[in-house]
Amino acid sequence: MLLLKVFLIITLICFVKGFQPPWMFMGRPLTGFRQDGIIDSINATEYKSFNQSLDHFSKNGTKWEQRYWKNDEFAKDDKELHFLILGGEYEASSFDIFYEKYPHVKYAKECNATLWLLEHRFYGKSQPLKNLETKNLKYLKSRQALADIAYFIKSQNDALNLINPKWIIFGGGYSGTLGIWFKEIYPDLSVGVVASSAPVNLRLDFYEYMQHIEYLINSYDSECAKNVKDVFKDFTYYLRMGDKSTEIVGNTLK
Ligand SMILES: *[C@@H]1O[C@H](CO)[C@@H](O)[C@H](O)[C@H]1NC(C)=O
Ligand SMILES: *[C@@H]1O[C@H](CO)[C@@H](O)[C@H](O)[C@H]1NC(C)=O
Ligand SMILES: *[C@@H]1O[C@H](CO)[C@@H](O)[C@H](O)[C@H]1NC(C)=O
Ligand SMILES: *[C@@H]1O[C@H](CO)[C@@H](O)[C@H](O)[C@H]1NC(C)=O
Repeated sequence: MLLLKVFLIITLICFVKGFQPPWMFMGRPLTGFRQDGIIDSINATEYKSFNQSLDHFSKNGTKWEQRYWKNDEFAKDDKELHFLILGGEYEASSFDIFYEKYPHVKYAKECNATLWLLEHRFYGKSQPLKNLETKNLKYLKSRQALADIAYFIKSQNDALNLINPKWIIFGGGYSGTLGIWFKEIYPDLSVGVVASSAPVNLRLDFYEYMQHIEYLINSYDSECAKNVKDVFKDFTYYLRMGDKSTEIVGNTLK
């Protein structure tokens, strides 16, 4: 049912006039998503910070500054339509909401929507704690990230006095999956989700994903693929060496 809704929204959005899809290969424009040179012409530093909770599921009131970007150049009379682009497992870049060739930026222009981009906790400069020590990583959880999104939307609704806001969530890959989970867990905070290439059939040992990555690296550079394979083989060997394994792997990584 949820997938059907997502599908319907995607279909609906594809009907927005003027959308000419680029030539695609395996889900990517042939020329790549990011085109050389253009990224440099976009101001990548203009971010805002937002006081976010460290732990949404306890009374620990610690806050940290989460980065976000806002592009309201298309928002006109209708201030109630908001597209939230979810950052994923990488540093977020304002490029994602300012580059006008991206479909979601085009849709925003067509629909007079405000674009937002929220960097995922523990990626880029959205670091809740000083370092990535193991004890800190218990806060690196999708459930916390989903609660970050909920708190972000609620706070913006309050701050901007939005009466009947319509938030549409966009994400790709892992952040697409986040978007779908978000609609499940916080159904009232958004009116729809566009999830591109989102893995939905999750399993503990999802090796098929790595097979796909191997295929991609191999098609780009087979020498590189061979090197990556060798490194994994060596590391697997070292990691099984018992007590000394952490030391050996740690030194190798230095
Ligand atoms: C980028 O943003 C900064 C900070 O807002 C501003 O000072 C600078 O002029 C901007 N640069 C461009 C090329 O827009
Ligand atoms: C976050 O909260 C702290 C302490 O209340 C305050 O000093 C800081 O300005 C806030 N940051 C933002 C981005 O609102
Ligand atoms: C909240 O959690 C942080 C990180 O684990 C910890 O440093 C801090 O002492 C905690 N604060 C309270 C009030 O429990
Ligand atoms: C967007 O705003 C323009 C100018 O105010 C208006 O003509 C147009 O109908 C709006 N588009 C939508 C989809 O609301």
